[in-house]
Amino acid sequence: MSKTFDIGLETLTGGAGLSIGAEKVGPAVEAPELGTLRGTFFLETFGCQMNDHDSEKVAGVLLSRGYRQVESPDAASLILYNTCSIREKAAQKVFSRLGEFGLQPNDGRIIGVLGCVAQQEGENIFKRAPWVSLVCGSASYSKLPELLAQVEAGNQRVTGLDNDTDETFETPVTRRDNPWRAYLTIIEGCDKACSYCVVPYTRGPERSRGSDSILREVRELAELGYSEVQLLGQTVNSYKDPTARKMKFSELLLAVADEPGIRRVRFTTSHPRDFSHDIVDAIDAQPKLCNHVHLPVQSGSTRVLHAMQRTYSLEEYLEKIAMIRGAKRSISITTDIIVGFPGETDEDFAETVSLLETVKYDGVFSFKYSPRPHTPSLKMNDAIPEEEKGRRLTLLQEKQREIQTIRHLSMVGETFETQVSAKSRRENQWSGHTSCHRVINFASQEPMLLGKYVQVRVTGATPNGLAGEQAP
Ligand code: 5AD
Ligand code: SF4
Repeated sequence: MSKTFDIGLETLTGGAGLSIGAEKVGPAVEAPELGTLRGTFFLETFGCQMNDHDSEKVAGVLLSRGYRQVESPDAASLILYNTCSIREKAAQKVFSRLGEFGLQPNDGRIIGVLGCVAQQEGENIFKRAPWVSLVCGSASYSKLPELLAQVEAGNQRVTGLDNDTDETFETPVTRRDNPWRAYLTIIEGCDKACSYCVVPYTRGPERSRGSDSILREVRELAELGYSEVQLLGQTVNSYKDPTARKMKFSELLLAVADEPGIRRVRFTTSHPRDFSHDIVDAIDAQPKLCNHVHLPVQSGSTRVLHAMQRTYSLEEYLEKIAMIRGAKRSISITTDIIVGFPGETDEDFAETVSLLETVKYDGVFSFKYSPRPHTPSLKMNDAIPEEEKGRRLTLLQEKQREIQTIRHLSMVGETFETQVSAKSRRENQWSGHTSCHRVINFASQEPMLLGKYVQVRVTGATPNGLAGEQAP
């Protein structure tokens, strides 16, 4: 479900805002009223939406300290990389970025590595890239102001690597990238122990944020003009309210949707084990809850699921799918799949391909298995050769492409409420998302639609999205 046309940068940053109490100002701005101007920072983010949102909060911390955000590392006195280590390739990107600085004489700029690679590699980063002076994992972000103070005082080796915490990262100021849709992390870390996954190590144990504080922030966001809220967590539906109110996840969804001004509520990522019927009931009862569930399966073979320590069999997963398909509303289902897990046979892989046919997913994110440090599967035998992983990935993606093409063609003639998020460079062409999270490119003569909700009639389809025209 990728974007089918490029959007001009201004569409995403033009109205983007800094959420401070009841004010809203543009992004990448000097915020001298928040502190003494200290310098400039450049922040590049890799990886998932959780990282994107962490970066929005880190930017908020820096702006409050009197820094100004700039768009290039050359113009920055503080350069930060918020990193991802979910697969080897993602982790390597950071070292290639850091390598770029190694080629230059030290010119006094401060360089910091944040996020999952920071946690995974720890102080080794100082050995591989001695010009780095800050290494901080996401579980230590609540200490970021103190750590920055140390860096500012000239300390060359500052670390925040404690990941056994019960704290969540909350900031008084968040510099959000999108002016209409706000990310909001409700649960951090992960208590599952999937054998391939580095996240429990890099992000620490599960910690849920109090429902009172979440609802307060949603209220503020609505007052600032945000109409869509996306609740985030590695296992978002494992949410456990730490307050006396003890709200269930489905109750929280309904309470967020009830806040005046909120028109759409999304949530990602759901874990099949904790996906219960009350979530489907909530989606049925409240149209503001988007009709889309991202439910990673990882494999269609119970044998492989067991080796992955996913805590469910294929049959149990299919029961969850049947539950979602049994809803009164039509709910889109997307998933994540890993091919080439150690010991995955041709038969196991055939079961995964056959699962695509059974479920007919609305979208699939598929990956080649990548061995990660600190994970149980690192020591498993029967590694699958890279070429074979590549062959399986291509096959799976071709199959899914066919399924999506048929699905999208069947939507021609339907009309969807679309939240307009981008203007194309082509005249009178816009792009937005349906509630079921499809990208739809459409024609409209109206001069200004960004951020609005309009009805769009589908007139054409591609494997990755829909095309249409604004309906009267
Ligand atoms: N190798 C390949 N893919 C992985 N994922 C997580 N860990 C790995 C790994 N070691 C995938 C899973 C997860 C998604 C975010 O990334 O499919 O759901
Ligand atoms: Fe990783 Fe599994 Fe936790 Fe998802 S549920 S973050 S795949 S350990």
